[in-house]
Amino acid sequence: MAMKSHLLRCIGSDERIAPKDVASDFRDPATGELYEVEYPWSETRKADTATARPNAAALRHLWADRRDSTLAIDQSGVWRYRDLLPILQDDEKAVTLREGNTPLYDLPRTAKLLGLDFLLAKHQGMNPTGSFKDTGMTAALSVAAERGYKWVACASTGNTSAAMAAYAARAGLRAIVFIPEGKIAWGKLSQSMDYGAMTVQLKTDFDGCVKMLGEIVRKNPIYLLNSVNPYRLEGQKTPAIEICEQLDWQVPDHLIVPGGNLANGSALGKGFTELKHLGFVDRVPKISVIQAEGANPLFQWFTNEEKLLAPVTADTRATAIRIGNPASWRKAARVIEATGGWCEQANESEIALAKAQIGAEGIGCEPASAVTLAGLKKLMKQGRVLPGERVVLLLTGHTLKDPEYTIDFHKDMLASDVPEAAAYRKPPVVLEPNESAVMRALEAEMAGTV
Ligand code: F0G
Repeated sequence: MAMKSHLLRCIGSDERIAPKDVASDFRDPATGELYEVEYPWSETRKADTATARPNAAALRHLWADRRDSTLAIDQSGVWRYRDLLPILQDDEKAVTLREGNTPLYDLPRTAKLLGLDFLLAKHQGMNPTGSFKDTGMTAALSVAAERGYKWVACASTGNTSAAMAAYAARAGLRAIVFIPEGKIAWGKLSQSMDYGAMTVQLKTDFDGCVKMLGEIVRKNPIYLLNSVNPYRLEGQKTPAIEICEQLDWQVPDHLIVPGGNLANGSALGKGFTELKHLGFVDRVPKISVIQAEGANPLFQWFTNEEKLLAPVTADTRATAIRIGNPASWRKAARVIEATGGWCEQANESEIALAKAQIGAEGIGCEPASAVTLAGLKKLMKQGRVLPGERVVLLLTGHTLKDPEYTIDFHKDMLASDVPEAAAYRKPPVVLEPNESAVMRALEAEMAGTV
């Protein structure tokens, strides 16, 4: 197949370059903009679309068959779809932890609470390192390995670094991560050490870490694995395919994603758009992005209608999305506009309550993921999501990433101003080890008096 070739298209100028010509910071030196991976069959390559266009019906069957295979790349929920991300010369050398294959759960109690008929959660926190980053990391780190890099690097609020460290270890590459000191959840910090990366805590925020990383990769043969790397997005588009497959090729009406550095919403947008272009589905869902109120530059840009996004000084306990100057804002803005979605924000109490509600479904997620539910409530109030619509929340990280946050909620240190939150609080009960004490506590709980 002639599909093993791709170009990188600058999203600002539409100029194409060969993959080997890309600068170390993955920005077009002329426009300062990011690139997108473009295949011979991509919609943007109008002249070539007739050539080598993947066949939707055949691929649906092939992908289903691969589920029975014992081959690692067939078991991966990213590489199973490799026909739509032909970025490697040799797919069998993909560095995989069998990522993807994540559940699409229903949230019946939350749906009822909100008056929705159909609410689902695509739980990307069920990936090998506990976040959606694995789907992108398997793609971009495999490219790094294939191109012979010995070192990889990223700046991170914690999940990217955990994923990168794991995949680098699998591939035998060295990894250096830059994280903001004191502003990442412990689960994530421990992962990058566990997987053997060089872990640098910089005395700055995420945006400061990104700057430092830029300097380092410019002067050294170290491969940058932040989400400005367009191959990350090729992996992160695959949950769009998986969602459609899990819904028997029905498209949800609305997909709601958290927004930090703003790559993921655009990756999923690319996934759905390609599926439609290739005839797998007949429409794309609305894609809405929700930010934390303390880290809301895209929300502000949507409200102000300025030409350029104005960075903010970010602060939120949803540390995964504590980002003031998001690299991929233009890509995300285009996807929101193209799909008819919206950008909203959620304050700290709204996030904490939403997280508890997702926890109470027996699912759980990290705080940054819970912004999706907090945002959905607002979109419903505004009439942007209607009761009969099929809504999917994209949960990005596992609840165990940030147990400190959960414990603080149950100790009434979060969302204390929200009366509804009280019903969800389950602080631990400390008792003497005797039966009558335990029985008294249990009876009080059964009677609903505590
Ligand atoms: N949710 C979680 C759990 C995240 O870790 C991130 C980003 C996001 C949402 C936002 O995704 O950046 O594509 O808009 N975490 C990055 C990191 C920045 O370094 O782990 P985005």
